[in-house]
Amino acid sequence: AAAAVVWRRRSGGWRAEEMARELEERCAAPGMEGLRRIAGEMSAEMAAGLAEDGESKVKMLVTFVDNLPAGSEKGLFYALDLGGTNFRVLRLQLGGKERHIVKQESREVSIPPHLMVGTSAELFGFIASELARFVDSEGGDFRLPEGRQRELGFTFSFPVRQFSIASGILIKWTKGFSIEDGVGEDVVAELTKAMEKQGVDMRVAVLVNDTVGTLAGGRYHDEDVAVAVILGTGTNAAYVEKAHAIPKWNGLYPKSGNMVINMEWGNFWSSDLPITEYDQELDAESLNPGEQIFEKLISGMYLGEIVRRVLLKMAKEAALFGDTVPAKLKTPFILRTPDISAMHHDTTPDLKIVEKKLKENLEITNTSVKTRKLVVKVCDIIAKRAARLAAAGIAGILKKQGRDTRGDGEKRTAVAIDGGLFEHYKEFRECLKSTLEELLGEAASRSVVVKLANDGSGIGAALLAASHSQYNELEE
Ligand code: GLC
Repeated sequence: AAAAVVWRRRSGGWRAEEMARELEERCAAPGMEGLRRIAGEMSAEMAAGLAEDGESKVKMLVTFVDNLPAGSEKGLFYALDLGGTNFRVLRLQLGGKERHIVKQESREVSIPPHLMVGTSAELFGFIASELARFVDSEGGDFRLPEGRQRELGFTFSFPVRQFSIASGILIKWTKGFSIEDGVGEDVVAELTKAMEKQGVDMRVAVLVNDTVGTLAGGRYHDEDVAVAVILGTGTNAAYVEKAHAIPKWNGLYPKSGNMVINMEWGNFWSSDLPITEYDQELDAESLNPGEQIFEKLISGMYLGEIVRRVLLKMAKEAALFGDTVPAKLKTPFILRTPDISAMHHDTTPDLKIVEKKLKENLEITNTSVKTRKLVVKVCDIIAKRAARLAAAGIAGILKKQGRDTRGDGEKRTAVAIDGGLFEHYKEFRECLKSTLEELLGEAASRSVVVKLANDGSGIGAALLAASHSQYNELEE
């Protein structure tokens, strides 16, 4: 019997390696050529989403932001950033041309999970109460001129159909949120109502997606920023489009000639995407089956979960962790992306960090170095697939903008990226950068810079609130 167990383990190890090889083949299948095709498809879907009928997987939402911060914004402004597992409130004292951001303070609160799937009154009530506490805690070094109402930039990171810079209805929830009575409602009206109830006297000056906030925040520091990407819990991008390239837009033609578009690229789909059985099962069991497929291959909410599903199958079919399947491994979302990131860049010779993570997160003990190596391999396959697809998406935007072929000496393009996945996951970040370079080719890649725009979205929302302040005209 002992011999049989040893044999099973051995062949089990072998079968697991074979499974990893198959997975890798599938995930890396597009190759450079396939990624280029995906970039082309992204750019075509963008054009389709801007057309008169706007039929496309990517919604290409008009944001009513036709000017990005110039640097002269001045005064005290607030921002509220809602859209991931946390929400943040911040206040910024803007100093105008010379001084930029004089002072800033923020508070981050994690959203109790039951509020993500409850009612919208509960969610907005909770947010408004935190905002009330934040306002109450304000020290004397932040000054609101006498007689003025506080003004807020509201970053709401879900697809919203906007009717103006400060109104819009929620199209659908994404990521871990699912609050039925919120869909179709004006999110600014809901927030305003909740603030009134809490006695917070504040006006929502702008409503923006986090990608749009990041674009604004990025532009404040670097005038070449023309694209912003979020790679965090979810993923999405916004960019500056020529107003004449938006046939579906029938509002006033903006003076600047430009309009920021919130792509909602998380819903992109193409038959070239390297989707596996694990992705299909994850999607089928998700809160939004059939939707946000690109997001489910790329973003932080899902990467750990994909890895868990692969490891579970290896445990079942190839006894990866011994004769029994570890019970914890059956729990959805128990493996988070920060865990796989930590395992992925374990540089200790016998993978001590992987050992620790498996023990602490999944109660899996007694793993061999060979098994741990395989776990790292799975993280590598899934993270790199995500990074390559994100790079292809960015290349698609640059192509749409005609900025993908610029050579030396031509105006540079900066891509501002925010989100924990990009910020904290080194292997992901490096793979994204090198893939983008390869996709663009040598000369063009010298004209494109990708940079971390840490917390651009909150700052950007406050900056846009400043440029849309109700007091601006008084001052001119
Ligand atoms: C999801 C949301 C989108 C947001 C992104 C990043 O894709 O639908 O609006 O920008 O997550 O937070």
